[in-house]
Amino acid sequence: GVAVIDFGSQYTQLIARRVREQGVYAEVFAHDADADHINQHQPAAYILSGGPNSVYENGAPQAAPHILKSEKPILGICYGMQALTYALGGQVAPSQAREYGPATITHTPASPLLDNLDTNLQVWMSHGDRIEQPPAGFVPLAQSENSPYAAIGDLERNIYGVQFHPEVSHTPQGSAVLHNFLFKIAHLTAKWTPLAVIENAIEAIRAQVGDEKVILGLSGGVDSAVAGTLIHRAIGDQLTSIFVNTGFLRKNEPESVLAVFRDEMGMNVIYNNATERFLDALQGKTEPEQKRKIIGNEFIEVFKEEANALEGVRFLAQGTIYPDVIESASGSKTAHVIKSHHNVGGLPEQLGFELVEPLRDLFKDEVRKVGTALGLPDHIVWRQPFPGPGLAIRCLGDLTWDRLETLREADAIFLEELEKAGLLVGDTAQCFAVLLPVKAVGVMGDLRTYEEVIALRAVQTQDFMTADWVRLPYDLLAQVSSHIVNKVKGVNRVVYDVTSKPPGTIEWE
Ligand code: XMP
Repeated sequence: GVAVIDFGSQYTQLIARRVREQGVYAEVFAHDADADHINQHQPAAYILSGGPNSVYENGAPQAAPHILKSEKPILGICYGMQALTYALGGQVAPSQAREYGPATITHTPASPLLDNLDTNLQVWMSHGDRIEQPPAGFVPLAQSENSPYAAIGDLERNIYGVQFHPEVSHTPQGSAVLHNFLFKIAHLTAKWTPLAVIENAIEAIRAQVGDEKVILGLSGGVDSAVAGTLIHRAIGDQLTSIFVNTGFLRKNEPESVLAVFRDEMGMNVIYNNATERFLDALQGKTEPEQKRKIIGNEFIEVFKEEANALEGVRFLAQGTIYPDVIESASGSKTAHVIKSHHNVGGLPEQLGFELVEPLRDLFKDEVRKVGTALGLPDHIVWRQPFPGPGLAIRCLGDLTWDRLETLREADAIFLEELEKAGLLVGDTAQCFAVLLPVKAVGVMGDLRTYEEVIALRAVQTQDFMTADWVRLPYDLLAQVSSHIVNKVKGVNRVVYDVTSKPPGTIEWE
Protein backbone atom coordinates (compact mmCIF):
# COMPACT_ATOMS: atom_id res chain seq x y z
CA GLY A 1 0.00 0.00 0.00
CA VAL A 2 0.78 3.69 0.22
CA ALA A 3 2.32 5.38 3.25
CA VAL A 4 0.80 8.83 3.72
CA ILE A 5 3.26 10.92 5.70
CA ASP A 6 1.52 13.48 7.88
CA PHE A 7 3.05 16.96 8.05
CA GLY A 8 0.05 18.32 9.93
CA SER A 9 -2.37 19.13 7.12
CA GLN A 10 -6.07 19.13 7.88
CA TYR A 11 -6.40 17.00 4.73
CA THR A 12 -4.06 14.13 5.64
CA GLN A 13 -6.85 11.67 6.43
CA LEU A 14 -8.58 12.73 3.25
CA ILE A 15 -5.51 11.78 1.20
CA ALA A 16 -5.61 8.28 2.67
CA ARG A 17 -9.33 8.02 1.97
CA ARG A 18 -8.92 9.17 -1.63
CA VAL A 19 -6.20 6.59 -2.22
CA ARG A 20 -8.35 3.85 -0.75
CA GLU A 21 -11.27 4.93 -2.90
CA GLN A 22 -9.09 3.93 -5.85
CA GLY A 23 -8.74 0.46 -4.36
CA VAL A 24 -5.25 0.88 -2.93
CA TYR A 25 -4.58 0.50 0.77
CA ALA A 26 -3.19 3.61 2.42
CA GLU A 27 -2.02 4.21 5.93
CA VAL A 28 -1.14 7.44 7.74
CA PHE A 29 2.20 7.85 9.52
CA ALA A 30 3.54 10.80 11.45
CA HIS A 31 6.38 12.63 9.70
CA ASP A 32 8.70 11.63 12.55
CA ALA A 33 7.64 7.97 12.79
CA ASP A 34 10.53 5.49 12.98
CA ALA A 35 11.72 4.08 9.69
CA ASP A 36 11.30 0.59 11.14
CA HIS A 37 7.73 1.29 12.13
CA ILE A 38 6.85 2.44 8.62
CA ASN A 39 8.83 -0.28 6.88
CA GLN A 40 6.99 -3.01 8.74
CA HIS A 41 4.07 -2.01 6.55
CA GLN A 42 6.16 -2.36 3.38
CA PRO A 43 4.94 0.76 1.60
CA ALA A 44 5.10 0.59 -2.18
CA ALA A 45 4.85 4.38 -2.53
CA TYR A 46 4.83 7.50 -0.37
CA ILE A 47 2.61 10.56 -0.36
CA LEU A 48 3.84 13.49 1.71
CA SER A 49 0.96 15.61 2.99
CA GLY A 50 0.62 19.36 3.24
CA GLY A 51 1.23 21.15 6.51
CA PRO A 52 1.10 24.52 8.22
CA ASN A 53 4.87 25.18 8.45
CA SER A 54 7.54 26.81 6.34
CA VAL A 55 10.40 24.44 5.58
CA TYR A 56 13.05 26.89 6.82
CA GLU A 57 11.41 27.47 10.18
CA ASN A 58 13.18 26.22 13.24
CA GLY A 59 11.92 22.73 13.97
CA ALA A 60 9.88 22.51 10.77
CA PRO A 61 9.15 18.85 9.93
CA GLN A 62 11.38 17.46 7.20
CA ALA A 63 11.16 14.70 4.62
CA ALA A 64 12.85 11.70 6.27
CA PRO A 65 16.06 10.42 4.61
CA HIS A 66 14.83 6.82 4.66
CA ILE A 67 11.91 7.84 2.46
CA LEU A 68 14.10 9.77 0.03
CA LYS A 69 16.46 6.79 -0.23
CA SER A 70 13.71 4.19 -0.50
CA GLU A 71 13.69 4.25 -4.33
CA LYS A 72 9.89 4.05 -4.16
CA PRO A 73 7.69 6.56 -5.99
CA ILE A 74 7.01 9.68 -3.94
CA LEU A 75 4.37 12.37 -4.36
CA GLY A 76 4.66 15.54 -2.31
CA ILE A 77 1.55 17.65 -1.88
CA CYS A 78 1.92 21.36 -1.03
CA TYR A 79 4.17 21.40 2.06
CA GLY A 80 5.17 17.85 1.15
CA MET A 81 6.44 19.15 -2.19
CA GLN A 82 8.35 21.94 -0.46
CA ALA A 83 9.87 19.50 2.02
CA LEU A 84 11.00 17.30 -0.90
CA THR A 85 12.44 20.29 -2.72
CA TYR A 86 14.32 21.48 0.34
CA ALA A 87 15.63 18.02 1.23
CA LEU A 88 16.83 17.35 -2.32
CA GLY A 89 18.69 20.64 -2.66
CA GLY A 90 16.19 22.95 -4.39
CA GLN A 91 14.97 26.31 -3.14
CA VAL A 92 11.76 27.28 -1.41
CA ALA A 93 10.82 30.88 -0.58
CA PRO A 94 7.86 32.84 0.69
CA SER A 95 5.61 33.68 -2.22
CA GLN A 96 4.93 37.35 -3.00
CA ALA A 97 1.30 36.58 -3.44
CA ARG A 98 -0.05 33.89 -1.19
CA GLU A 99 -2.42 31.57 -2.97
CA TYR A 100 -5.54 30.41 -1.17
CA GLY A 101 -8.50 29.02 -2.99
CA PRO A 102 -9.23 28.18 -6.60
CA ALA A 103 -6.57 28.61 -9.28
CA THR A 104 -5.98 27.49 -12.82
CA ILE A 105 -2.79 25.72 -13.77
CA THR A 106 -1.45 24.95 -17.20
CA HIS A 107 0.50 21.76 -17.63
CA THR A 108 2.85 20.27 -20.16
CA PRO A 109 1.95 16.90 -21.64
CA ALA A 110 5.32 15.45 -20.71
CA SER A 111 4.49 13.65 -17.48
CA PRO A 112 2.44 10.62 -16.55
CA LEU A 113 1.29 12.46 -13.40
CA LEU A 114 -0.91 14.88 -15.32
CA ASP A 115 -1.69 12.52 -18.17
CA ASN A 116 -5.21 12.66 -19.62
CA LEU A 117 -6.18 15.86 -17.86
CA ASP A 118 -7.44 19.15 -19.21
CA THR A 119 -4.51 21.38 -20.21
CA ASN A 120 -5.97 24.16 -18.13
CA LEU A 121 -6.77 22.56 -14.85
CA GLN A 122 -8.92 23.90 -12.01
CA VAL A 123 -7.14 23.27 -8.74
CA TRP A 124 -7.32 24.24 -5.08
CA MET A 125 -4.31 26.05 -3.66
CA SER A 126 -3.50 26.82 -0.06
CA HIS A 127 0.08 27.92 0.43
CA GLY A 128 2.32 30.82 1.41
CA ASP A 129 5.67 29.45 0.23
CA ARG A 130 6.54 28.38 -3.26
CA ILE A 131 9.30 26.60 -5.16
CA GLU A 132 11.94 29.01 -6.52
CA GLN A 133 14.31 26.40 -7.87
CA PRO A 134 13.51 22.71 -8.18
CA PRO A 135 16.21 20.23 -7.16
CA ALA A 136 18.58 18.84 -9.79
CA GLY A 137 16.87 16.29 -11.99
CA PHE A 138 13.41 17.86 -11.65
CA VAL A 139 11.50 19.47 -14.51
CA PRO A 140 8.52 21.81 -14.29
CA LEU A 141 5.26 20.07 -15.19
CA ALA A 142 2.71 22.82 -14.59
CA GLN A 143 2.53 26.48 -13.75
CA SER A 144 0.02 28.85 -12.26
CA GLU A 145 -0.04 32.62 -12.31
CA ASN A 146 1.80 32.69 -9.01
CA SER A 147 3.93 29.56 -9.16
CA PRO A 148 6.17 28.73 -12.10
CA TYR A 149 6.42 25.32 -10.45
CA ALA A 150 2.84 24.32 -9.65
CA ALA A 151 3.93 20.74 -10.34
CA ILE A 152 7.40 19.27 -10.73
CA GLY A 153 8.81 15.83 -11.29
CA ASP A 154 11.95 13.77 -11.51
CA LEU A 155 10.77 11.31 -14.11
CA GLU A 156 13.82 9.08 -13.65
CA ARG A 157 13.45 8.65 -9.93
CA ASN A 158 9.64 8.82 -9.89
CA ILE A 159 9.53 11.68 -7.41
CA TYR A 160 6.78 14.24 -7.97
CA GLY A 161 5.43 17.31 -6.29
CA VAL A 162 2.25 19.33 -6.70
CA GLN A 163 1.62 22.71 -5.15
CA PHE A 164 -2.15 22.20 -5.24
CA HIS A 165 -4.36 19.78 -3.30
CA PRO A 166 -5.52 16.86 -5.48
CA GLU A 167 -7.30 15.28 -2.49
CA VAL A 168 -9.96 17.97 -2.02
CA SER A 169 -13.20 18.11 -3.96
CA HIS A 170 -12.39 21.67 -5.09
CA THR A 171 -9.81 20.13 -7.40
CA PRO A 172 -12.33 18.46 -9.72
CA GLN A 173 -9.77 16.28 -11.51
CA GLY A 174 -7.81 15.58 -8.34
CA SER A 175 -8.65 11.90 -8.24
CA ALA A 176 -7.31 11.56 -11.78
CA VAL A 177 -4.00 12.98 -10.55
CA LEU A 178 -3.91 10.47 -7.69
CA HIS A 179 -4.98 7.75 -10.11
CA ASN A 180 -2.06 8.56 -12.38
CA PHE A 181 0.36 8.50 -9.46
CA LEU A 182 -0.93 5.19 -8.13
CA PHE A 183 -1.31 3.28 -11.36
CA LYS A 184 0.86 4.94 -14.04
CA ILE A 185 3.78 5.88 -11.85
CA ALA A 186 3.77 3.49 -8.90
CA HIS A 187 2.16 0.67 -10.95
CA LEU A 188 0.04 -0.47 -8.01
CA THR A 189 -2.95 -2.73 -8.44
CA ALA A 190 -6.40 -2.07 -7.01
CA LYS A 191 -6.92 -4.83 -4.49
CA TRP A 192 -8.48 -2.98 -1.56
CA THR A 193 -12.14 -3.94 -1.94
CA PRO A 194 -14.79 -4.64 0.69
CA LEU A 195 -14.56 -8.35 -0.06
CA ALA A 196 -10.81 -8.36 0.41
CA VAL A 197 -11.21 -6.40 3.62
CA ILE A 198 -13.74 -8.93 4.88
CA GLU A 199 -11.53 -11.88 4.00
CA ASN A 200 -8.50 -10.36 5.72
CA ALA A 201 -10.52 -9.38 8.77
CA ILE A 202 -11.99 -12.85 9.14
CA GLU A 203 -8.57 -14.43 8.93
CA ALA A 204 -7.16 -11.97 11.47
CA ILE A 205 -10.06 -12.50 13.89
CA ARG A 206 -9.67 -16.27 13.73
CA ALA A 207 -5.94 -16.03 14.24
CA GLN A 208 -6.34 -13.75 17.25
CA VAL A 209 -9.26 -15.45 18.96
CA GLY A 210 -8.65 -19.14 18.30
CA ASP A 211 -11.41 -21.06 20.05
CA GLU A 212 -11.87 -18.53 22.87
CA LYS A 213 -15.06 -16.60 23.60
CA VAL A 214 -15.76 -12.99 22.65
CA ILE A 215 -18.36 -10.50 23.89
CA LEU A 216 -19.53 -7.35 22.16
CA GLY A 217 -21.64 -4.40 23.23
CA LEU A 218 -24.20 -4.00 20.48
CA SER A 219 -25.65 -0.49 20.29
CA GLY A 220 -27.42 -0.49 16.96
CA GLY A 221 -24.80 1.95 15.65
CA VAL A 222 -22.95 1.21 12.41
CA ASP A 223 -19.58 0.44 13.94
CA SER A 224 -20.64 -2.12 16.52
CA ALA A 225 -23.07 -3.61 14.00
CA VAL A 226 -20.40 -4.17 11.36
CA ALA A 227 -17.81 -5.33 13.89
CA GLY A 228 -20.29 -7.81 15.33
CA THR A 229 -21.34 -9.16 11.95
CA LEU A 230 -17.73 -9.61 10.86
CA ILE A 231 -16.78 -11.40 14.04
CA HIS A 232 -19.86 -13.57 13.81
CA ARG A 233 -18.84 -14.53 10.26
CA ALA A 234 -15.40 -15.43 11.54
CA ILE A 235 -16.20 -17.36 14.72
CA GLY A 236 -19.97 -17.90 14.84
CA ASP A 237 -21.32 -18.74 18.27
CA GLN A 238 -18.07 -18.02 20.05
CA LEU A 239 -19.40 -14.45 19.94
CA THR A 240 -22.08 -13.25 22.33
CA SER A 241 -23.47 -9.75 21.91
CA ILE A 242 -24.96 -7.78 24.76
CA PHE A 243 -27.62 -5.25 23.88
CA VAL A 244 -28.65 -2.92 26.69
CA ASN A 245 -31.90 -1.03 26.32
CA THR A 246 -31.38 2.13 28.34
CA GLY A 247 -34.91 3.27 27.70
CA PHE A 248 -33.45 6.18 25.79
CA LEU A 249 -33.53 4.61 22.35
CA ARG A 250 -35.64 5.84 19.47
CA LYS A 251 -39.02 4.40 18.62
CA ASN A 252 -38.84 0.73 17.53
CA GLU A 253 -35.08 0.72 17.87
CA PRO A 254 -34.77 -2.25 20.27
CA GLU A 255 -37.15 -4.35 18.18
CA SER A 256 -35.32 -3.49 14.99
CA VAL A 257 -31.88 -4.28 16.43
CA LEU A 258 -33.08 -7.65 17.69
CA ALA A 259 -34.82 -8.43 14.41
CA VAL A 260 -31.67 -7.80 12.41
CA PHE A 261 -29.02 -9.38 14.59
CA ARG A 262 -30.88 -12.16 16.31
CA ASP A 263 -33.40 -13.15 13.67
CA GLU A 264 -31.76 -12.27 10.35
CA MET A 265 -28.08 -12.68 11.17
CA GLY A 266 -28.62 -15.52 13.62
CA MET A 267 -26.35 -13.99 16.22
CA ASN A 268 -26.32 -14.77 19.89
CA VAL A 269 -27.77 -11.63 21.48
CA ILE A 270 -28.43 -11.08 25.17
CA TYR A 271 -31.08 -8.42 25.53
CA ASN A 272 -31.18 -6.51 28.79
CA ASN A 273 -34.06 -4.11 29.19
CA ALA A 274 -32.67 -1.80 31.86
CA THR A 275 -35.16 1.01 31.30
CA GLU A 276 -36.44 1.15 34.88
CA ARG A 277 -32.99 1.01 36.32
CA PHE A 278 -31.86 3.98 34.23
CA LEU A 279 -34.98 5.96 35.00
CA ASP A 280 -34.54 5.32 38.73
CA ALA A 281 -30.91 6.42 38.63
CA LEU A 282 -31.87 9.62 36.84
CA GLN A 283 -34.85 10.58 38.94
CA GLY A 284 -34.79 14.30 39.69
CA LYS A 285 -31.59 14.82 37.69
CA THR A 286 -31.63 17.58 35.08
CA GLU A 287 -28.03 18.78 34.89
CA PRO A 288 -26.60 17.58 31.52
CA GLU A 289 -23.13 16.56 32.65
CA GLN A 290 -24.51 14.78 35.68
CA LYS A 291 -27.01 12.93 33.48
CA ARG A 292 -24.21 11.85 31.15
CA LYS A 293 -22.11 10.58 34.05
CA ILE A 294 -24.93 8.61 35.61
CA ILE A 295 -25.90 7.03 32.29
CA GLY A 296 -22.29 6.16 31.46
CA ASN A 297 -21.69 4.49 34.82
CA GLU A 298 -24.99 2.68 34.81
CA PHE A 299 -24.30 1.35 31.32
CA ILE A 300 -20.93 -0.03 32.36
CA GLU A 301 -22.52 -1.66 35.43
CA VAL A 302 -25.23 -3.38 33.42
CA PHE A 303 -22.77 -4.51 30.78
CA LYS A 304 -20.38 -5.87 33.42
CA GLU A 305 -23.13 -7.83 35.12
CA GLU A 306 -24.12 -9.46 31.84
CA ALA A 307 -20.50 -10.12 30.88
CA ASN A 308 -19.67 -11.64 34.25
CA ALA A 309 -22.65 -13.94 34.02
CA LEU A 310 -21.06 -15.52 30.97
CA GLU A 311 -18.24 -17.90 31.67
CA GLY A 312 -14.79 -18.07 30.21
CA VAL A 313 -14.87 -14.94 28.11
CA ARG A 314 -11.42 -13.76 27.13
CA PHE A 315 -12.06 -11.07 24.50
CA LEU A 316 -14.10 -7.88 24.23
CA ALA A 317 -14.88 -6.73 20.70
CA GLN A 318 -15.08 -3.04 19.93
CA GLY A 319 -16.05 -1.05 16.86
CA THR A 320 -13.04 1.28 17.02
CA ILE A 321 -12.42 2.78 13.58
CA TYR A 322 -9.33 4.26 11.90
CA PRO A 323 -9.97 7.96 12.61
CA ASP A 324 -10.18 7.02 16.32
CA VAL A 325 -6.73 5.46 16.30
CA ILE A 326 -4.90 7.49 13.69
CA GLU A 327 -3.12 9.64 16.27
CA SER A 328 -1.62 6.80 18.24
CA ALA A 329 -1.27 4.38 15.33
CA SER A 330 0.69 6.84 13.23
CA GLY A 331 3.72 6.28 15.46
CA SER A 332 4.46 9.93 16.18
CA LYS A 333 6.87 10.82 18.94
CA THR A 334 5.64 14.40 19.12
CA ALA A 335 1.97 14.49 18.16
CA HIS A 336 -0.51 14.81 21.00
CA VAL A 337 -3.68 12.87 21.25
CA ILE A 338 -6.25 15.47 20.31
CA LYS A 339 -9.34 13.35 20.69
CA SER A 340 -11.46 13.98 23.75
CA HIS A 341 -14.89 13.34 22.33
CA HIS A 342 -17.74 12.29 24.55
CA ASN A 343 -17.62 8.62 25.19
CA VAL A 344 -20.82 8.01 27.07
CA GLY A 345 -22.15 4.62 26.18
CA GLY A 346 -18.65 3.31 25.63
CA LEU A 347 -16.75 0.85 27.77
CA PRO A 348 -13.62 1.53 29.79
CA GLU A 349 -10.45 -0.35 28.92
CA GLN A 350 -9.98 -1.85 32.34
CA LEU A 351 -12.82 -4.37 32.15
CA GLY A 352 -10.17 -7.06 32.08
CA PHE A 353 -10.67 -8.39 28.56
CA GLU A 354 -8.34 -8.44 25.60
CA LEU A 355 -9.62 -6.32 22.75
CA VAL A 356 -10.71 -7.44 19.31
CA GLU A 357 -11.04 -4.46 16.98
CA PRO A 358 -11.70 -5.61 13.42
CA LEU A 359 -12.44 -2.10 12.10
CA ARG A 360 -9.26 -0.44 13.37
CA ASP A 361 -7.97 0.13 9.84
CA LEU A 362 -11.19 1.38 8.27
CA PHE A 363 -12.66 4.77 7.55
CA LYS A 364 -16.37 5.28 8.14
CA ASP A 365 -17.29 5.01 4.46
CA GLU A 366 -15.36 1.74 4.26
CA VAL A 367 -17.14 0.43 7.35
CA ARG A 368 -20.42 1.14 5.54
CA LYS A 369 -19.27 -0.65 2.38
CA VAL A 370 -18.18 -3.65 4.42
CA GLY A 371 -21.52 -3.62 6.23
CA THR A 372 -23.41 -3.67 2.95
CA ALA A 373 -21.18 -6.45 1.60
CA LEU A 374 -21.94 -8.43 4.76
CA GLY A 375 -25.64 -8.14 4.01
CA LEU A 376 -26.65 -5.62 6.67
CA PRO A 377 -29.76 -3.61 5.78
CA ASP A 378 -29.49 0.05 4.77
CA HIS A 379 -31.24 1.32 7.86
CA ILE A 380 -28.35 -0.04 9.93
CA VAL A 381 -25.56 0.76 7.49
CA TRP A 382 -26.73 4.34 6.95
CA ARG A 383 -27.95 4.96 10.47
CA GLN A 384 -27.28 8.46 11.71
CA PRO A 385 -24.93 8.84 14.64
CA PHE A 386 -26.82 8.60 17.89
CA PRO A 387 -25.37 9.71 21.22
CA GLY A 388 -24.79 7.07 23.90
CA PRO A 389 -27.11 8.83 26.39
CA GLY A 390 -29.72 8.92 23.64
CA LEU A 391 -33.05 10.56 24.22
CA ALA A 392 -32.10 11.32 27.82
CA ILE A 393 -30.14 14.36 26.60
CA ARG A 394 -32.98 15.34 24.27
CA CYS A 395 -35.62 15.21 26.97
CA LEU A 396 -34.96 18.41 28.88
CA GLY A 397 -36.40 18.72 32.36
CA ASP A 398 -37.94 15.80 34.25
CA LEU A 399 -36.99 12.43 32.82
CA THR A 400 -40.18 10.46 33.11
CA TRP A 401 -41.39 7.54 31.06
CA ASP A 402 -44.35 9.57 29.79
CA ARG A 403 -42.24 12.47 28.61
CA LEU A 404 -39.81 10.07 26.93
CA GLU A 405 -42.72 8.46 25.10
CA THR A 406 -43.93 11.88 23.98
CA LEU A 407 -40.46 12.66 22.65
CA ARG A 408 -40.17 9.24 20.97
CA GLU A 409 -43.45 9.77 19.11
CA ALA A 410 -42.59 13.28 17.94
CA ASP A 411 -39.11 12.17 16.91
CA ALA A 412 -40.53 9.25 14.92
CA ILE A 413 -42.93 11.54 13.06
CA PHE A 414 -40.11 13.91 12.15
CA LEU A 415 -37.94 11.07 10.84
CA GLU A 416 -40.81 9.53 8.93
CA GLU A 417 -41.60 12.78 7.14
CA LEU A 418 -37.94 13.35 6.32
CA GLU A 419 -37.71 9.85 4.95
CA LYS A 420 -40.79 10.33 2.80
CA ALA A 421 -39.24 13.52 1.45
CA GLY A 422 -36.04 11.59 0.67
CA LEU A 423 -34.03 13.78 3.02
CA LEU A 424 -32.91 11.20 5.53
CA VAL A 425 -29.88 9.85 3.71
CA GLY A 426 -27.11 12.10 2.49
CA ASP A 427 -28.71 15.50 2.90
CA THR A 428 -28.89 15.62 6.65
CA ALA A 429 -26.16 14.36 8.95
CA GLN A 430 -28.33 14.22 12.04
CA CYS A 431 -31.93 15.07 12.72
CA PHE A 432 -34.06 14.63 15.77
CA ALA A 433 -36.66 16.10 18.08
CA VAL A 434 -36.06 17.64 21.50
CA LEU A 435 -38.71 17.95 24.21
CA LEU A 436 -38.48 21.24 26.05
CA PRO A 437 -39.46 21.71 29.69
CA VAL A 438 -41.53 24.71 28.70
CA LYS A 439 -45.29 25.02 28.54
CA ALA A 440 -47.10 27.16 26.03
CA VAL A 441 -50.70 28.15 25.59
CA GLY A 442 -52.58 27.01 22.53
CA VAL A 443 -56.06 26.51 21.21
CA MET A 444 -57.44 23.26 19.77
CA GLY A 445 -61.03 23.10 18.70
CA ASP A 446 -62.57 25.60 21.07
CA LEU A 447 -60.41 24.56 23.96
CA ARG A 448 -57.48 26.27 25.51
CA THR A 449 -54.43 24.00 25.82
CA TYR A 450 -51.39 24.39 28.00
CA GLU A 451 -48.75 21.91 26.91
CA GLU A 452 -45.10 21.36 26.14
CA VAL A 453 -42.97 22.37 23.16
CA ILE A 454 -41.05 20.20 20.69
CA ALA A 455 -37.95 21.61 19.02
CA LEU A 456 -36.82 20.04 15.75
CA ARG A 457 -33.14 19.93 14.84
CA ALA A 458 -31.58 18.94 11.53
CA VAL A 459 -27.92 19.58 10.82
CA GLN A 460 -25.42 19.06 8.05
CA THR A 461 -21.80 18.50 8.94
CA GLN A 462 -18.57 16.97 7.68
CA ASP A 463 -16.98 16.11 10.98
CA PHE A 464 -19.43 17.03 13.77
CA MET A 465 -16.99 19.71 14.97
CA THR A 466 -18.87 22.37 13.06
CA ALA A 467 -22.37 22.08 11.67
CA ASP A 468 -25.04 24.11 9.96
CA TRP A 469 -28.79 23.77 10.30
CA VAL A 470 -30.51 22.33 7.26
CA ARG A 471 -32.73 24.66 5.23
CA LEU A 472 -35.66 22.24 5.28
CA PRO A 473 -38.57 23.11 2.99
CA TYR A 474 -41.28 25.15 4.76
CA ASP A 475 -43.97 22.78 3.54
CA LEU A 476 -42.19 19.86 5.12
CA LEU A 477 -41.85 21.72 8.41
CA ALA A 478 -45.54 22.59 8.27
CA GLN A 479 -46.42 18.95 7.70
CA VAL A 480 -44.25 17.73 10.56
CA SER A 481 -45.58 20.39 12.90
CA SER A 482 -49.21 19.63 12.23
CA HIS A 483 -48.64 15.87 12.54
CA ILE A 484 -46.89 16.25 15.84
CA VAL A 485 -49.40 18.62 17.40
CA ASN A 486 -52.32 16.51 16.21
CA LYS A 487 -50.95 13.12 17.12
CA VAL A 488 -48.63 13.50 20.07
CA LYS A 489 -50.27 13.96 23.39
CA GLY A 490 -48.75 16.61 25.62
CA VAL A 491 -47.41 18.80 22.81
CA ASN A 492 -49.13 21.87 21.36
CA ARG A 493 -46.29 23.73 19.68
CA VAL A 494 -43.33 22.93 17.40
CA VAL A 495 -40.28 25.11 16.73
CA TYR A 496 -37.32 24.65 14.39
CA ASP A 497 -33.79 25.18 15.66
CA VAL A 498 -31.87 27.59 13.38
CA THR A 499 -28.59 27.65 15.31
CA SER A 500 -25.32 26.59 13.73
CA LYS A 501 -22.40 24.96 15.59
CA PRO A 502 -20.64 26.96 16.85
CA PRO A 503 -22.11 28.75 18.73
CA GLY A 504 -24.69 26.03 19.43
CA THR A 505 -23.83 22.36 19.81
CA ILE A 506 -25.66 19.72 17.81
CA GLU A 507 -27.38 18.30 20.88
CA TRP A 508 -29.27 20.55 23.29
CA GLU A 509 -27.54 19.11 26.33
P1 XMP B 1 -22.41 18.11 20.12
O1 XMP B 1 -23.74 18.18 20.79
O2 XMP B 1 -21.27 18.17 21.09
O3 XMP B 1 -22.36 16.68 19.45
O4 XMP B 1 -22.28 19.12 19.02
C1 XMP B 1 -21.40 16.26 18.50
C2 XMP B 1 -21.71 14.83 18.13
O5 XMP B 1 -21.48 13.97 19.26
C3 XMP B 1 -22.68 13.29 19.61
N1 XMP B 1 -22.74 13.22 21.07
C4 XMP B 1 -22.45 12.13 21.81
N2 XMP B 1 -22.08 10.89 21.45
N3 XMP B 1 -22.01 10.24 23.73
C5 XMP B 1 -21.87 9.95 22.41
O6 XMP B 1 -21.56 8.81 22.11
C6 XMP B 1 -22.37 11.48 24.17
O7 XMP B 1 -22.47 11.73 25.36
C7 XMP B 1 -22.61 12.47 23.16
N4 XMP B 1 -22.97 13.77 23.19
C8 XMP B 1 -23.06 14.21 21.91
C9 XMP B 1 -23.80 14.12 19.01
O8 XMP B 1 -24.97 13.34 18.77
C10 XMP B 1 -23.15 14.61 17.73
O9 XMP B 1 -23.17 13.61 16.72
